[in-house]
Amino acid sequence: MTNNSKRVRKAVLPAAGLGTRFLPATKAQPKEMLSVVDKPLIQYVVEECVASGIDNIIIVTGKGKNAIEDHFDFSPALEDFLEKKGKSDLAKLVHDIGNMVHFSYTRQKEPLGLGHAVLLAKELVGDEPFAVLLGDVIIPGPNPVTRQLMDVYERTGKGVIAVEEVPRERTGLYGIVDVERTSSADSRTMQIRDLVEKPTPAEAPSTLAVTGRYVLPPEIFDCLERTKPGRGGEIQLTDALRLLAQEKGLLAHVYEGKSHDAGDKLGFLKATVEIGLENTEFGSDFREYLRTLKL
Ligand code: G1P
Repeated sequence: MTNNSKRVRKAVLPAAGLGTRFLPATKAQPKEMLSVVDKPLIQYVVEECVASGIDNIIIVTGKGKNAIEDHFDFSPALEDFLEKKGKSDLAKLVHDIGNMVHFSYTRQKEPLGLGHAVLLAKELVGDEPFAVLLGDVIIPGPNPVTRQLMDVYERTGKGVIAVEEVPRERTGLYGIVDVERTSSADSRTMQIRDLVEKPTPAEAPSTLAVTGRYVLPPEIFDCLERTKPGRGGEIQLTDALRLLAQEKGLLAHVYEGKSHDAGDKLGFLKATVEIGLENTEFGSDFREYLRTLKL
């Protein structure tokens, strides 16, 4: 495949972060394995990839992250145990997780930043476009955000990142984009003029925040190689995206869907409640229970 091809087949999932915002829960287990209702955060992200038509997932792990590989592996002893107990539906559920898609793993040995983590996937991605999904944000729903971005990429041949409006007092938590507002037919997709990583509300060029979903051309690797450590002394993906925007053009897409920012304790709790309420098995009982709390 050459970089002229616009089909997106691969996704990179950076999962090497230390999870300090979740301590002590993440002292001995990866934050990606914390469960919202009945699934680890990283499984929501993998399911979004599968629903988008991605067939190859590259996970960038680090020290203490073995549970992620085990989760997406077959588990014959557990399946056997469940079968013997007559719980074949659970055995199938466990088996299907290992069958979702093809996984490869690479390790980030030092916490040098999100940009550095993505760069480590260069050899595994090769010369083709790919998606990046950050696991702190989960966006369940029938219209996967990664698929929405892939459609824009396949139509335009330009890198595209998902954005959403946030309150101005929260700009310091996100990458913020400065966009060219045009009245084109697709008013959700805009040309990016510039990006800033976590600006103060006063410095933010807009209130459009980067949500943690990207579809990028392979040229991003060259941009990452030229990116010096930025905010927090880390190699920031946002800084490499600035280069890409200047040299090749880059789009922002206001996606359709509802995101849950599960990247800190309060966000995680909100995601748990909202996704719990949507559960087909016990959502209505949970709603009843919450009503009894008389808050
Ligand atoms: C990262 C990115 C940031 C983006 C955010 C979305 O930051 O650097 O640009 O807006 O994810 O969740 P992090 O939350 O990892 O600090």
